[in-house]
Amino acid sequence: MTYELIIVQSEAPIAIVQINRPRQLNALNSQVMQEMTSALETLDNDAAIGCMIVTGDERAFGAGADIKDMADATAVEMLQRNWIAYWDRIKHISKPVIAAVSGYAVGGGCELAMACDLIVASESAQFSQPEINLGVIPGAGGTQRLTRAIGKAKAMDMVLTGRALSAREAEANGLVARVYPTEVYLDEAKKLAREIASKAPVALRFAKESVNKAFESPLADGLDFERKLFYFLFATQDGHEGLKAFVEKRKPEWQGK
Ligand code: HXC
Repeated sequence: MTYELIIVQSEAPIAIVQINRPRQLNALNSQVMQEMTSALETLDNDAAIGCMIVTGDERAFGAGADIKDMADATAVEMLQRNWIAYWDRIKHISKPVIAAVSGYAVGGGCELAMACDLIVASESAQFSQPEINLGVIPGAGGTQRLTRAIGKAKAMDMVLTGRALSAREAEANGLVARVYPTEVYLDEAKKLAREIASKAPVALRFAKESVNKAFESPLADGLDFERKLFYFLFATQDGHEGLKAFVEKRKPEWQGK
């Protein structure tokens, strides 16, 4: 498939999906989001790939939804375009997706990073939800995922004022998993992706699903869900292979079955 506004690089067992609108600071119009979600869905079905990275460039991960596209839209047009559904589609990718963020992760860009499974940031990354300054509010998870990630106090601070969190603040507050110098953040994200991709594929998929479930269900339901997935893994070859390999003091060889 050919893409205009993203670049897809396959470095099996990982793949990198890069937003490529540098002059607009990677503002997310519907074409970018359409290309990105279809690339991720294609990679999700590619048996050679175990983990994907979504990234921008050093200056901007993404400066938010394309304001020029929204400036004259009516409520009904926004509803009919339904392009926020693209952010939801990312949630349904079964393989782990890492957001490698440098520079601006603003509005819909911050929401895109949060729709991924974990965020690796460069020291120059900054995360903000400045929609309040445009007379609107976040629409793709900025009041919900952000609050679950960093808590009410910080989320209110960001959403009511539009102030940005630096990479270090974002890490200290649980939004970001790892921060690296800008020169190496993407290489480090790739290393992490390769490490993740080396794990047993079915367990990886369930692990992701189960952690994500914690954000969407009461504790008792989440524990029940987790337990069933755990039992199910004893029906996989890899589950037995991993346990036996430990006992036999050797490296496991995953079959993805
Ligand atoms: C369209 C954008 C854009 C955006 C930047 N650009 N952000 N175009 N939509 N979200 C364009 C600028 O118009 C400019 O184009 C070029 O990118 C460079 O931007 P500058 O402003 O000159 O750069 P700089 O001075 O470095 O400032 C960077 C910035 C600023 C602080 C990130 O660009 C900014 O505040 N952008 C808007 C961020 C924002 O409010 N995002 C939230 C959008 S609402 P020209 O042609 O002039 O060179 C949202 C809601 C999501 O995301 C809802 C769910 C989907």
